[in-house]
Amino acid sequence: MENLAPRRTQKMVLGSFGICIIGFYCFMTSNLRESYSVSLAPCAANTYRSNNSQKTPQRSEEHQACQPKLNLMFMKTHKTASSTLMNILLRFGEKNKLRFALPDGRNDFFYPSNFFRTQVKAYEPGVCYNIVCNHMRFNAMEVEKLLPQDTFYFTILRDPAELFESSFHYYKGYVPQTWRIPGENQIEEFLQNPKQYFNPKGINQFYLKNLQFFDLGFENTMEADDPRVKQAIRFIEERFDLILISDYFEESLILLKDALCWEIEDVLFFKHNVRSPQSGLGMSPQLKFQAREWNGADWLLYQYFNASLWARIEKFGLRRMLENVQDLRRKLAEMEELCIDGGHAVEAQHISDGLLKPWQPLGSASILGYNLRSPMNPGQQEVCRKMLTPEIQYLSSLGVDLWLTRLWGWLGDSLALFRLS
Ligand SMILES: *[C@@H]1O[C@H](CO)[C@@H](O)[C@H](O)[C@H]1NC(C)=O
Ligand SMILES: *[C@@H]1O[C@H](CO)[C@@H](O)[C@H](O)[C@H]1NC(C)=O
Repeated sequence: MENLAPRRTQKMVLGSFGICIIGFYCFMTSNLRESYSVSLAPCAANTYRSNNSQKTPQRSEEHQACQPKLNLMFMKTHKTASSTLMNILLRFGEKNKLRFALPDGRNDFFYPSNFFRTQVKAYEPGVCYNIVCNHMRFNAMEVEKLLPQDTFYFTILRDPAELFESSFHYYKGYVPQTWRIPGENQIEEFLQNPKQYFNPKGINQFYLKNLQFFDLGFENTMEADDPRVKQAIRFIEERFDLILISDYFEESLILLKDALCWEIEDVLFFKHNVRSPQSGLGMSPQLKFQAREWNGADWLLYQYFNASLWARIEKFGLRRMLENVQDLRRKLAEMEELCIDGGHAVEAQHISDGLLKPWQPLGSASILGYNLRSPMNPGQQEVCRKMLTPEIQYLSSLGVDLWLTRLWGWLGDSLALFRLS
């Protein structure tokens, strides 16, 4: 009984503290929340690249026989170079006046919840959408109800050893069960004895095991010998038209361009969301082996689709692939020269333009970004800027109000400051 009053006071103090934080946040970021209004063309206006391209006035000979695909479902997986691909899709969609199905209030479709159509910003039944490319937990039935029947489904996978390392590093601030892992090299400690540290019911546990399986809508705690793993792989093979592999990113892009009947100019890219090389500890072959074993379902998934990617490359022609990749590299080098100050990525604190600063994971500023070259020919300025714009700012410019994402980021930063001080 005597305890009640102090406890109530405590709750009131905490409550007002929370309200103050949110109020202060709104005040601090009010300038970030201007509403952008970009009106999107209706679905029917599917005219591939209205005559605004100076570089390829004519369709290349290779592609004269096919029609470019404009209805696209990109299942954006985590830590797989998917932000780089997303930038390609955002630019392609804008240029061709396609309609994106975008999330609302944040940069994903309520991940890690399953995708539902109603999560789409200003969703209306019957409206035709062309492109989905934000993070989601895949839910085939709902996606199918949203997109036209001829939609091209694709995704990207990565060697689970490297993905695990990347995910562990990037998300550990959000996974409480990693906080108590002792030692200098937490990944090594975890992989020595994962059963001791892993809690399948813990908050955000999916970042620690078979993340690709999870993103694709399957249970991530299955072991590799579970028969459902093979079933899942079969399902993915049937549902998706192409599975890219980030370890062979350029080859994958060439296959994508070919399958979509696009031009090479449509798939030019600068790498986004790349970690600074100093922040990684690297993985020994032994550690990689353990990581693949621990992520056994993802490892089977990866091996299966790595093999099918290479079978497709062979069908495409190894020599032709080599020539295409060389052409791509040449054009990328030209764009780098043209667009990027210094020609390479830099740490976020060296980026002066807030619109080009990349989003950072909780408690560390390890993600690199770019400075726009200046002075620049105004004709090139726009395409360079779009190629260099990180996901969050790009989505804002398309009219997504990211208040929830920004609130989390702001709280995370405050927390990190608080812990440091
Ligand atoms: C594109 O070309 C068509 C005819 O070829 C022309 O009518 C139209 O005005 C052009 N659009 C732009 C944006 O230049
Ligand atoms: C992917 O497949 C290629 C071709 O078969 C092979 O050389 C490569 O080692 C595979 N990658 C991995 C990580 O298994």
